Formats: sequence, structure tokens, C-alpha cells
Amino acid sequence: MVVEWSGSGPELLLTIDRGSAAGLRSQLEAQLREAIRTGRLAGGEQVPSSRKLAHTLGLSRGLVQDCYAQLQSEGYLTSRAGSATRVAPTAVARPLERPRQNNSTNRRRHPVADFRSGVPDLGLVPREDWSWAIREVCRTIPNNAFDYGDPVGEQQLRDVLAAYLGRVRSTAAGGDQIVICTGMAQAIALVLRVLATDGIDTLAVEDPGAWRFTAEQAAANGVALTPIAVDRDGLDVTLLERTEARAVLVTPAHQWPTGVVLAGHRRQQLIAWARERDAIIIEDDYDAEFRYDRDPVGAMQGLAPDAVISLGTVSKSLAPTLRLGWLLAPDRLLDRLALAKQVADRGSPGLDQLALAKMLESGRYDRHLRRMRTEYAKRREVLVAALALHAPGVAITGLAAGFHAVVTLPADAQENRIIEKAARRGVGLYGMSSMRHSAGPHQSQLILGFGDTSQSAIQAGIAAVGDLLCGTPE
Ligand SMILES: Cc1ncc(COP(=O)(O)O)c(C=O)c1O
Repeated sequence: MVVEWSGSGPELLLTIDRGSAAGLRSQLEAQLREAIRTGRLAGGEQVPSSRKLAHTLGLSRGLVQDCYAQLQSEGYLTSRAGSATRVAPTAVARPLERPRQNNSTNRRRHPVADFRSGVPDLGLVPREDWSWAIREVCRTIPNNAFDYGDPVGEQQLRDVLAAYLGRVRSTAAGGDQIVICTGMAQAIALVLRVLATDGIDTLAVEDPGAWRFTAEQAAANGVALTPIAVDRDGLDVTLLERTEARAVLVTPAHQWPTGVVLAGHRRQQLIAWARERDAIIIEDDYDAEFRYDRDPVGAMQGLAPDAVISLGTVSKSLAPTLRLGWLLAPDRLLDRLALAKQVADRGSPGLDQLALAKMLESGRYDRHLRRMRTEYAKRREVLVAALALHAPGVAITGLAAGFHAVVTLPADAQENRIIEKAARRGVGLYGMSSMRHSAGPHQSQLILGFGDTSQSAIQAGIAAVGDLLCGTPE
């Protein structure tokens, strides 16, 4: 309700702290903004005259007038010549905040340990290196680098990335075949959009797999998902051949979530399938940086640059919040991918791209990866030892790379019940069921992420739930 005040306007509960480091004017502005945002002052309501407010608070009238002028320029207040200053009708407070979803609440829900997968250690993000890189970029780039950039990304990053990926992932693409995206999520969205215009309306995906990651984007582009089973050699290409699909999304270097590698013969079979059917392989190279005791597995893109779109991200290597990813695509798709990116957002933030280029060029990216590899390798050992001690006999797989493992539970174990019981003990466990398309029956399995779970939390968590994993609860 708007209050029509007579006289000089309402009394406002405003306080000025003369001992505070914040200036008088900024204190007054902040409190008025807050009063408007929270609804203490409603849209249309008259605020006290500058003379009255200055008198009440012991401030100069000029200071209050400056403050009102500032809030007018920000759209909080309005004033017309000869009439009182009022709260702008459009500045009314939002009545209800929507409940925020925040993954960090998981930690509070699981005080002992949280085995959530897919996130790197957020406490070990190379903050110093990143701030150094951003500072360097800001200090050195020419003025015109602050203009709109090329929608497909900063040439410098694309060139540096092409060389880096060629070196560590055996890819075969120049900088001109790379599109920088806001994470792999956008890369998949752009690819699906472009493929849909080619009449590709079915995307084969791994089962189990990260299909939820793709499902909504696929639906938005009118693309249906066809699950293809994964076995110990990765995606079963013979099953794929029996479908009508002309696009497949795979995680060849480290299948998500089983951790298996797509075997050499399957890679060949998959490439032959793509070429025969004029189909496209979308390679999700999500955590290829983290490999421990096995030979490097190169990206498939290097084997068949004409048939593979390779997607990468810094979400596992640096931090998801950077929203930096890329795609490497065959020439025939590049123009349309570039247009899709331009239409989506006119290009990813340029300073962050150049900072990533600096990180790569300076060797700081590699150094960070080396540190993280060592840390994750230790966690992996701690996990294996803790399971051997507290849950002897459970099978662990998928540990050759990445930062998660798969634990197979005893035949009669029920995933959901174990997850519930573990939660009551303060431990976050996550089941394989949510990664499966088919209802089963399947053997119960857990995906134990340790990217953002410290060595001590791994030990404490497994000690707390070992009996559940062995099938001998209570
Ligand atoms: C299978 C898979 N690949 C890649 C990613 C990374 O996506 P983005 O780069 O958008 O953070 C995720 C994140 O959840 C994922 O589940």
C-alpha cells in the first residue's frame, strides 16, 4: 500500500554511524536502497524532504540532495519539478525470493563426507595463477581488445589451445577449427542445434551415462535420445549400428560414469559407422587430464577429424564457475556452429579467454594439473585403502583416470536404502541408477567422487559407511 504523507514525508528509521569507515553519503544511500529493496518504502511512496531528513540526521542538506540525485539516477527514486521525491514505482521490492539451489548445501547435509562426483577440489583452485593471468591480460591488451570479439573466441586462445590439445590429447585441429563456448554444456547445445538443422533428430547416448546432462538440450532442439549399452570395452557399437541414429555422444577416454576406456577395436568400428552413415561422433573429453596408472588415451578427434566433434572444458581442470569450454569441429560444420554461437551470446567473455591462454602459455595450467594429479592420486589410494579396511570384498572399478570410482555392492544390496542410511550418518553417497536409462534389473553400484572430498573426509566417510557397503548394516 502506498502511504500518502502530508507535510514533509514519513519518518524513516535511518541511522548514521559517524565512526564508520563508510562515508556519510554512502551510508545514507545504502540504507535508502535497502529500505526500497526490502519493501519498507513502497513504490510511489513519498520520501522525507531533503531539508527534513538533513535536520533529523544532522547532515547537510546538500549531502541529502546529492544522495537523492544518485538514487534517482539509479532508478530508485523519481521526482518531478515542484512535487515531492517518491520511490519509483518500478523499484518495488520483490515480495518473495525463490528458494536458491546451492550445491554447497550438500556439504552441510553431509557433514562427515560427501562423495559427489564431477567437481574438482574447489579449495585448490589456482586463485593466484588466475588472478595473475587476469591482471596480465588487463595490463597488456590493446584498447581494441575490449571491443566485441570474434564470436567463436579469441584467436590467441584458440591457437594456444589447438597446440596444447595436439600435444596432450593428440587432436588434429588448428585454432580455426575451435569454437570457445561457455562450458561444455553450451558446446553440446550448439552442436545439437546445428545437427538438428541437418535433420538429425536422434542422438545415441551411453547407458549408463550423463544423459541428464544432455536430455533437456536435446529436447529443446527436438532431438530424441537413444540409449546404447556400455560394457567393459565402452559403448557397444554393434548395438548402435542397429539404430537409426546419425549422431552419438561418447566419453571415450574415461567413460562417464563407469570409467572404462573405449577399446581400440570399438574406436575403429565407431569411426567406420560414422563414415558409412554420414554420421557424427561427439566426443566428450571431460576429465582426460587426470590419468594415473595407464597409458595416455588420445582423443578420438585425432583419429578422424572429419567425423568427430571433440568437446573440452576447464570445469574439471580449473573450476566450473569459469564457464569455459571448447569444441573442435570438422570444417563443414564450422560456419554454422559459429553462427549458432553468435546468435546465442555474441561470444564468450574475452578477458577470461585471454587469461586461460596466459595460463596455458606460461605453463601454469600444466603445473596446476600436475599438482592436482598428485593430490587425486593420493586420494585414490586413500579411498582404496579405506574400502579395503572398512568394506573388504567390495569391487572397485573405474579408477585408472578421473576423480571418481565405481563400487559394486553385494547382489542383494539396495542402492537407495544404502544411500538413505549413509545420509543419516552424515555421508553423501550417489547411486548408479540415476545414470541408467533402462530400469533394470541392474546390480547396485555407487559412484564415489573424490574430486572435492579431502583425504581425511574420504577416510572418515568410508569408515562411517563401510558396513553398509559390505551389506552388513546396523
Ligand atoms: C559428462 C560431463 N561432461 C562434461 C561436463 C562439464 O560441463 P561444463 O563444461 O558445462 O561444466 C559435465 C558436467 O556436469 C558432465 O557431466
